[in-house]
Amino acid sequence: MTETVVLKKLDGAVLTVTINRPDKLNALNQAVFAELTGVFAQAASDDSVRCVVLTGAGDKAFVAGADIAELRAMDSSQAGDAVKVARTLMRHMEQMGKPVIAAINGYALGGGCELALACTMRIASSKAIIGLPEITLGLIPGYGGTQRLTRLTGRGRALHMMLTGKPADAQQALDWGIVTMVTEPGELEQCVAKIARGLAASAPLSMRSIIDVVNSGADRSLDEGLDLEEWAFTSLFDSHDMREGTAAFLEKRKPEFTGQ
Ligand code: COA
Repeated sequence: MTETVVLKKLDGAVLTVTINRPDKLNALNQAVFAELTGVFAQAASDDSVRCVVLTGAGDKAFVAGADIAELRAMDSSQAGDAVKVARTLMRHMEQMGKPVIAAINGYALGGGCELALACTMRIASSKAIIGLPEITLGLIPGYGGTQRLTRLTGRGRALHMMLTGKPADAQQALDWGIVTMVTEPGELEQCVAKIARGLAASAPLSMRSIIDVVNSGADRSLDEGLDLEEWAFTSLFDSHDMREGTAAFLEKRKPEFTGQ
């Protein structure tokens, strides 16, 4: 257990990462960023970790943003350094080839929303409040929000959210595709754990490939995206897991995937 981030393993394959500053609604300070960077580096290199769940401690917030007290004390050069740390972490989360589920248990504002946007999937409790209110602080989103929210929900909705600074409730976030499921608050943990266990049991190479091809293809032309897909699809024919998955189907048994 570390100071601002708490780790727990489910069934040896799902790593639950809980940001643990509930008295500050889990606001992201430099200590949290440093710990998260270490945790995700470790999760990426540990073959036993097949899925990561990211959530916030307490029953009020996922993450209520970057730590505003810390931001207030920064000059532009320090802000630039902080952005680089956040950008590197969030890009790594997107590109590490393992699914990361944001379990949004309350406020996900500013940097908290941006952290969730860098996750592979977002599942929210019905009391989640999600938004990018930086304009109310005389700022703009600086941890990827202008880019990731726009790609996820479209330019009109993203501009609406960022310019008004008004957050969405869980239903609106669901309607706008920002989250893919909404649960009762008391059911979020269990619901996410069930999905995470399912992802952890599925074929790791396919998982990595789908995440890579969808994310890389989204920023390219259709033909370039189809090239990526063709290459990734055909490469999997050399894998043990493809032979195992297809054999298991034909033999009417459960596949055992090894990531080979
Ligand atoms: N940075 C630093 N501290 C924060 C914080 C943040 N982003 N969000 C909340 N906190 C702190 C509060 O200062 C307060 O600390 P205190 O008890 O020492 O005074 C504590 O967390 C609880 O927050 P509080 O505002 O009292 O809770 P609330 O239920 O009245 O309001 C929010 C909840 C989320 C609406 C409100 O905290 C808020 O607007 N936070 C900032 C959201 C934001 O602008 N995020 C973008 C930052 S870039």
